Amino acid sequence: MKLKNQLLQPCFLLALRFLALVLWSFPGARALDNGLALTPTMGWLHWERFMCNVDCQEEPDSCISEKLFMQMAELMHSDGWKDAGYKYLCIDDCWMAPKRDSKGRLQADPKRFPNGIQSLANYVHSKGLKLGIYADVGNKTCAGFPGSFGHYDIDAKTFADWGVDLLKFDGCYCDSVEHLENGYKRMSLALNRTGRSIVYSCEWPLYMWPFREPNYTEIRQYCNHWRNFQDVYDSWQSIKSILAWTSSNQKRIVHVAGPGGWNDPDMLVIGNFGLSWDQQVTQMALWAIMAAPLLMSNDLRQISPQAKALLQNKDVIAINQDPLGKQGYRLRKEDNIEVWERPLTDLAWAVAMVNLQEIGGPRFHTISLASLGQGMACVPDCTITQLLPVKSKLGFYEWTSDLKIKINPTGTVLLRLAAN
Ligand code: GLA
Repeated sequence: MKLKNQLLQPCFLLALRFLALVLWSFPGARALDNGLALTPTMGWLHWERFMCNVDCQEEPDSCISEKLFMQMAELMHSDGWKDAGYKYLCIDDCWMAPKRDSKGRLQADPKRFPNGIQSLANYVHSKGLKLGIYADVGNKTCAGFPGSFGHYDIDAKTFADWGVDLLKFDGCYCDSVEHLENGYKRMSLALNRTGRSIVYSCEWPLYMWPFREPNYTEIRQYCNHWRNFQDVYDSWQSIKSILAWTSSNQKRIVHVAGPGGWNDPDMLVIGNFGLSWDQQVTQMALWAIMAAPLLMSNDLRQISPQAKALLQNKDVIAINQDPLGKQGYRLRKEDNIEVWERPLTDLAWAVAMVNLQEIGGPRFHTISLASLGQGMACVPDCTITQLLPVKSKLGFYEWTSDLKIKINPTGTVLLRLAAN
């Protein structure tokens, strides 16, 4: 009892907080030195929603064409997306013509991109946005368009000449692990040599895993973000599998993330067809906890006000973009409730509680605040705000308090704990 009282003395608690500040401030592994992605990239990427639709005759409004990207650019500019932080408008696979030009350069499909990528980049830049493009380290892209193998320098130069600001580099059709690794490295160096600031988004670890465990420290030195796991689909099953992969590999991947380099659990599918409201809340909350790039793949021309408000939620985006740049992790799983936490600047913490039980109604879960943030999240006391599913100020809590929270099936309650 006496010892407990001593441990609760303000000086002792403040000393602990200081120690926590020092420990959490240690930088992660060295990042790609291009000064980019100091917080996770935010933007829009066409793949999950529009895939490889090249039939502009039948589906002029949803085929991969300059018109689609110009419409999205216009909306990103006018509907609050850019102001919320979504700046990168990214083209995925299927933008290319089937062959390189006579000088060996990649070229856009002339029917679907009649003005070419450079003119699209100018348009996107005129809206205050940045343009992303897609290519592949191997002989072909995943959809069968020309690959960059043997052409890394010329492709990097072409993208820089066009004014591209991000490259998603896929890993299909690579004939050996050596080609895969060397290719990802060589393209990183080639991009740097262009002198243009180009965010480099890799899928290197995803394609490495079948051969051997990726060397994440090395990957971080070459890429600004990297996909680890399968493509996201518009389904709860897909979101669950990404979360399960991430938590079961967190010892390998969490410490590697930090300013300049991030684990990429793939696109946000909020605003589409497959996720219930609670599941959309779960994706947004957990992508914030995971310090994930926020690349939406949806149709900004037709999106519900509710999904838009969730994607533009400033408090949640602030957690995702927290400048400390520490990725969160799963703290525990108990009775189908997962508790995740993420350290933030100023000794604050984000905490997400996910109810994975898919039968029954909302469930109560009680957590002791002393179990959060290695015991430091609420020392000696803190102010707690619920950010999702709706914002509400829960108030002042002491270190020794319990917190009882109600969570919908497949939903998440996201909290922010601020040290007083
Ligand atoms: C792979 C990638 C996806 C997408 C497609 C395009 O599957 O993982 O994100 O880029 O290729 O073909």
